[in-house]
Amino acid sequence: IPVEDFDLVIFGATGDLARRKILPGLFRRFVAGQMPEAAQIIGAARSEQDDEAFRAETKAAIVEFGGVKKGDDDLARFLQHLHYVRIDAKGEGGWKELKAKMRKGAVHAFYFSVAPALFGDLAERLASHSIADGESRIVVEKPFGRDLATAKALNATLRKHFEEQQIYRIDHYLGKETVQNLMAVRFANILFEPLWNAQYIDHVQITVAETVGVGGRGSYYDTSGAIRDMVQNHMMQLLCLIAMEPPYHFDPNAVRDEKLKVIRALEPVEATEIVRGQYQANGDGKGYVEDSENPATRTESYVAMKVRISNWRWQGTPFYLRTGKKLRARTSEIAIIFKEPPHSIFEDAQTSGEPKANELVIRLQPNEGMNLKVMIKEPGPGGMRLVQVPLDMTFADALGPEGADMPDAYERLIMDVIRGNQTLFMRGDEIEASWAWTDPIINAWENSKQRPEPYDPGSSGPDEALGLMHRDKRRWREIRA
Ligand code: BG6
Repeated sequence: IPVEDFDLVIFGATGDLARRKILPGLFRRFVAGQMPEAAQIIGAARSEQDDEAFRAETKAAIVEFGGVKKGDDDLARFLQHLHYVRIDAKGEGGWKELKAKMRKGAVHAFYFSVAPALFGDLAERLASHSIADGESRIVVEKPFGRDLATAKALNATLRKHFEEQQIYRIDHYLGKETVQNLMAVRFANILFEPLWNAQYIDHVQITVAETVGVGGRGSYYDTSGAIRDMVQNHMMQLLCLIAMEPPYHFDPNAVRDEKLKVIRALEPVEATEIVRGQYQANGDGKGYVEDSENPATRTESYVAMKVRISNWRWQGTPFYLRTGKKLRARTSEIAIIFKEPPHSIFEDAQTSGEPKANELVIRLQPNEGMNLKVMIKEPGPGGMRLVQVPLDMTFADALGPEGADMPDAYERLIMDVIRGNQTLFMRGDEIEASWAWTDPIINAWENSKQRPEPYDPGSSGPDEALGLMHRDKRRWREIRA
């Protein structure tokens, strides 16, 4: 879908996120033919430099993070869209120059790729210099607060100058192709929805496993931990997309209303139903304590928990969530474990001892695809022998060459901002509801004296997390690439 002409201002344009994600993402959209000829990308940051220097810096970033060759013609043409303004977020420097660059009639979007402490200053100056108006859009990143109180304060700050429909809060998981696919799979097929409830689903497992540690960003991470960093936002979004009722339409508020209802229906998590872990040092690899440079740290680099949704659809079907750093493999998936058939006509049949329940696994990354386990008869004359086999589909194979080209989450999301589509962005009330659920979990831990369970790098997390499942006579799926 073509996009309207736009001026996109990136505050913090020389920062890490801009260099790694935003600018390479914009370049790929340019290559895809989605950038109007007159569109401007205006970098705004504190350092003193001119357009040429900003273009050179962006070129280096795109070569490094976008996997592009230096001499690429497209890249040279893309760079012509770039401009730079030195801006003083807390002072008056640069704002008149910025205003002079903005064109009437173009969509105006302002990406706050800066520390949240500066959101208020930026919003205030965009308004006082009449750079932003009622049509402008602002884009903000996580962390959106560190608890309910700070999230509310941030929302209040932004809403002083902008209406909710102008605020685009990014959760980059919603920009991932396969995460959007969760909605397509559920609501564009008749196969799944009739079974998508507590009557047929025994439990759901949501896993986001990473192999990286927190080295390099330990000081940020140590004030956050897996619950704030991953559960409150990304995993919550996955949970919502799996658990929500069908929205009446694929429309921003219809979708977000349904997600909000799920979050509001979450039961508090008991201390006995959550396991926190910290990776230990092994060989040359530093442990979490060394990476965070905080010898007394109790911050979790791994968490597993049992979550209950208190509504008609999900009564009695728990959702088990786990995420962690330095695990065995980088893999994110959602597994729907169905109940066993109510009655077996094959009482005498031999089975291989494997589980008999159907299982639908949606692989989010890498190797995006779906796997449905079904029972069939093993060939042979020796009577009815049942065996479970996978109906396996990798999206890239099924879709042919085009399927292999998965756009990065940011590409999709930035273009949605320009198009004015908020469906894949979080609404203020959604974020607040999510913190309202997370706060007591975090507070209970902070008030306790417990320490996280140690686990070995390259493992599946602490053994105690297995217990969380065994107690319920269930088991985690193996984490493997
Ligand atoms: C970020 C977290 O939001 O998401 C990181 O701050 C995490 O700690 C990352 O590694 C995971 O994103 P992805 O896209 O690599 O799954």
